[in-house]
Order: sequence, then structure tokens, then C-alpha cells
Amino acid sequence: MCGIMGYTGSKEAKYIIIKGLSALEYRGYDSAGIGIYNSDEDKVNICKCIGKVKNLKEKAEKLNLTGTCGIGHTRWATHGGVTDENAHPHKFGRVTITHNGIIENYEELASEFGIEDELKSQTDTEVACAVFAHYYDKYTDPMKAIYKAVKCFRGTFAFTIIFDDIPGKIYAVRNVSPIVAAKTEHGTMLASDLTAISLYAREYLVLGEYQILVLSPDDIELFDIKGNPLVTEYQKIDWDTEAATKKGFPFFMEKEISEQPEALKNTLEPRIKDGLPDFTYDEIPDEFFKSFDKIFITACGTAMHSGQVGKGLIEKLAKVPVETEIASEFIYDEPIIDSRTLVVSVSQSGETIDTLTAVKKASELGAKTLGIVNVHGTSIARASDHVVYTNAGPEIAVASTKAYTVQVAVFYLLAAKLALVRGLMSEEECREFIKTLQSMPSAIRKVINDKDEVHRISTKIVEAKNVFMLGRGLDYYAILEGSLKLKEVSYIHSEALPAGEIKHGTIALISDETPVILSITQEKLAAKEISNAKEVKSRGAIVLILMKDGIELENESQWDKVYRLPAAPDEFMIFTVTVALQFIAYFTALDLGLDVDKPRNLAKVVTVE
Ligand code: AGP
Repeated sequence: MCGIMGYTGSKEAKYIIIKGLSALEYRGYDSAGIGIYNSDEDKVNICKCIGKVKNLKEKAEKLNLTGTCGIGHTRWATHGGVTDENAHPHKFGRVTITHNGIIENYEELASEFGIEDELKSQTDTEVACAVFAHYYDKYTDPMKAIYKAVKCFRGTFAFTIIFDDIPGKIYAVRNVSPIVAAKTEHGTMLASDLTAISLYAREYLVLGEYQILVLSPDDIELFDIKGNPLVTEYQKIDWDTEAATKKGFPFFMEKEISEQPEALKNTLEPRIKDGLPDFTYDEIPDEFFKSFDKIFITACGTAMHSGQVGKGLIEKLAKVPVETEIASEFIYDEPIIDSRTLVVSVSQSGETIDTLTAVKKASELGAKTLGIVNVHGTSIARASDHVVYTNAGPEIAVASTKAYTVQVAVFYLLAAKLALVRGLMSEEECREFIKTLQSMPSAIRKVINDKDEVHRISTKIVEAKNVFMLGRGLDYYAILEGSLKLKEVSYIHSEALPAGEIKHGTIALISDETPVILSITQEKLAAKEISNAKEVKSRGAIVLILMKDGIELENESQWDKVYRLPAAPDEFMIFTVTVALQFIAYFTALDLGLDVDKPRNLAKVVTVE
């Protein structure tokens, strides 16, 4: 959730680290800090403050923070409030650290090491720093100090560590929380994600769990936790630096909504051969799709919403029973899983701790695991037997948009593949299905071109305190996601309901102050849903309708707004209605003057349970 950046080389570290932290700000951003080693003073100088990275930049300008080696951090508070003291880096004795994750036993450690009275902050990180310092004082060997300290910690961590008397070197060690590193022309660097590194390098290496990374100005070395050297393997960054910029859009969210046609094409095309779904691109053989009788889909938030679409489709086309379970529940439940079960996890970041833990649990229970992941080389991808990488490119806005659409697209390919290999779809039917899927980028493009029209719906909800969204069948899954999107970025309470359910309680909340958005794209359910629209209308609701073009709607002018979506077969309407709902959320937040890309309290990558 927090962001980490470190640099050692021949340039002023301060500027490089602050630029990297700005790129990472989307991960967590209630405070920020840097620690720079100053060779004249032979010590690490620290500057930290609450607020955005720009506050840090202003403060750092006024201080003597010269030096070519340093570490930085953006913090999303967990232990200890949002204060300057609690911001990272923390320093204890000769050791300075930044930390992502949570050290669960920090209170026990503080008492065990007798440092309670020396602490300046309320954080678990400062306690961890003291433990590193204790072992560094004892052994004067950084590798041994790291090994000994890490053995004391219970929880998750990515630490970057600099020692006062080891100039020019940065150490890192991790469990769960990610670290990547890269060489540049003028030095080496590490970060908690590629967005920061991609500003400077085209290749990176991933630090494995319980491995130690040592950065010098001209080299990167990797060791196991006991200090034995390991081979370093670099991977290519498969998107350009431009991809992580706003490219003229006011917010990343709008840019990322608009990128969906391309993202969809990039995800679909490598997996279609001769008009049929083909996963050789992901090195998944056809036999794999016959090797299970049951599927579990597990994920969090938006990623889970894509899984719910997947469930509906797989059950319909391939007749394989599918259960969906939120990852944070899955890990503490007793799911009925064995070697004939496939557990599919879905994650944009590939680092969500609940989803990662669910994958590990599924493997322990003997299931086969398949990850649908956007970021290459991440923990969930590494923990899964097979990975289907969605090729959405970097998603920076906290609210997920393009990553969701491509996850849904992967489920369409999977459902078709399963139906095909299990003989429930002929090749001809499958080709027709895939052809329609391939037409979705241009259908989405039409909605994008129509965004001003969709914006008019937002103007009807911008002053609301509560919004309700109704849908049936696939429309229900679409509004689950649309409703989350609206909450996340506009802070307006929104509730998504199967349209038929409204009468069973929630209709009590409907009044002339409540906008109700109905998604009506499923022909066989349309008449029933129009009746539901009338029910809320007669209670005074402001009724806003997203409707598939061609579905008949009498007396259209009686509704507060009707937006027509380009017609496609029912099971494909999810793509266009999703984009309309994303725009509704976006424009509402925009009109409210909110920081759309960085909604309050949220972080892009959720690495705490
Ligand atoms: C989506 O807009 C949210 N930011 C959130 O629900 C997100 O989808 C969830 O935290 C899962 O993240 P992941 O896809 O990176 O695992």
C-alpha cells in the first residue's frame, strides 16, 4: 500500500527518489519521507512530513540533503496515526529503514529488546529498525544482522535498509510485500513497483521472498537469507514510460477508461488462433482444461466482480460448477477443494495479500491454481501453477477500470475454451462467439465517443446522498462494479441490487431524492426490469436507464434519462454498460471537484489483511 524507492549511484539521490515517489504516490499517500546518506557528515539525514510528495519536495529543498545514496517512502498509515514522526524512514542507532507491510509482534519485540522508552513514533517499523540496529551492533555484519532480525518478525515486510557506516549501499529483504530493482546508466535503484523504476530502466529483477538484495552504485547482488549468493535474472518491462503518463487527460481514470479498446485487443488477440481461444501464449496445454470438475474463483473488490461475470458465463457455456468467494473469506473458510478443483485468482496488481494467501491455501489443499494477473512477475503470478497475464498496461488510478474489462475478457476466453474442449460448443459456434468478442473494442469505442451524453446522467446524481443501481442477470454483475466505482471516487453511497429484490426491503429508502440507475441490456429480462423501473418511479425516484439499443421502451420521455448502448448479443452487453458506468462514476467525481485518481482512504495495492 505504501511506496518504496531507493537509489545509489553518481547522481543526486534526492531528486531521483522524489521523482520515483511521485510515481508511486497512487499506492498510499498520507505522508512521505526520504533518508539520504551524506558522506561529509558520514550519516543519514532524514526529511519526512505528512501529506503529498509535493510537501516533502518543498521541505527537502530547504534542507541539506545532498548525497548519492538514499531511500524514500510514501506511507499509508496502519500502526500509528498520520504524523511526521510516524512517517518513514525511521532511524535507530546506525540503521535507517523504510518498510511496507506490518510487523504483527512489534509490541512484544519492543519489550523483548527493552527499547520502549527510546521510541519516537508509534510504528511497528521503528521497532523493526531497532531490532536491525541491535543485531548490527552485535555482529557488525549487515547480512547477519538482517538474517537475525528477520527471524524475529511475524508479519509481512519489504524493508530497505542503509547502515551509517556502509556508504553507498542499500540492502533490502522481503516477505510478501514486493520489491523490484534495476540498473541504470548512472546507478542502481529499487522500488515497491515498476512504475517508479520504469522512469529510468527497461529491465528489472524481482526480489524473491526471504532473499536479500544489495545495491551498490554499479552492481546489484542477490543472496538467500543466510547470505549465500544467488543468480540474478532480469525481465523486460513490457510497457513504455509514456504508458504511465496522463497523455493529456485530466486524470488517469479518464485515460484508462479510454484505453479499454486497446487493452482489450492486446489481451484477446494473442489468445485467439484460427478464430478459436488458444492459451499456448500462456503455455497452458489443452489437457489442462479437462483436468478439473469444479472451479473456485477468488479475488477482492473489482477483481471479484470480474470473477462473478466469469462464473455466470462458465456455468452457462461449459456447465462446470463455479463458486466465487471473496479472498479474505476464502482464507478463513473451509472450502471443499481437492486435486480436481481449479482455483482461479484474479488480481490487477498481483500483490493483494488476501488473494495471495488464498492462492497459497488453495495449493496447500491440492487444487490447481490459475492466476489472472496484470503485473508481470508479481507474487500471485509466482504462486500460481499457471498465469494468464492481462495486457492492460499500467493502471495508475486507484479505481480500477481497464484492468476489470480485460479480466472479464479473459473469462470469456476461458468459458469458450472450456465449452470447446468439453464438447459443449462446436468449433463453428465457438468461432462465432469469439468473433463477437473481438468486436467489443469497437463497441466500447462508441460509448467512449459518446461520453458527453453519459456525463448527463452524472449531473442527475451529483447532489445525491444515496444512489441505487438495479439490474438482472448479467446486468446485476455490471452494476455491482458500477456501484463500487461510484462509491470509490465520488464518496456517494451507492447500493447495487438485483432489480427484483428492491421490493423486499430497500424500496423503503426510495424517495424523490434518490436516483436509481437501471442497467437493462438482457432482452429476456427487460420487461421485468422495466416494471421495476416503474415501481421506483412511482415512489418518486429519479430514474436513469442504461439500455441496449433495440429494446422497446414505451414513452421514453417519462424517464429522467435514457442512454442507449450499442446493441450486441445479450451476453456481451457487459462490456459497453461497464464503460458507461465507469464514466458515470468518473464524471460525478469530476463535477464534485474531487481528486479522482487518489480517492481518500484508498490505496491501489492492498498488502495488509
Ligand atoms: C478497484 O477499483 C479497487 N481499487 C479495488 O477493489 C481492487 O480491485 C481490489 O483491491 C483488488 O485489487 P487487485 O486487483 O490488485 O488484487
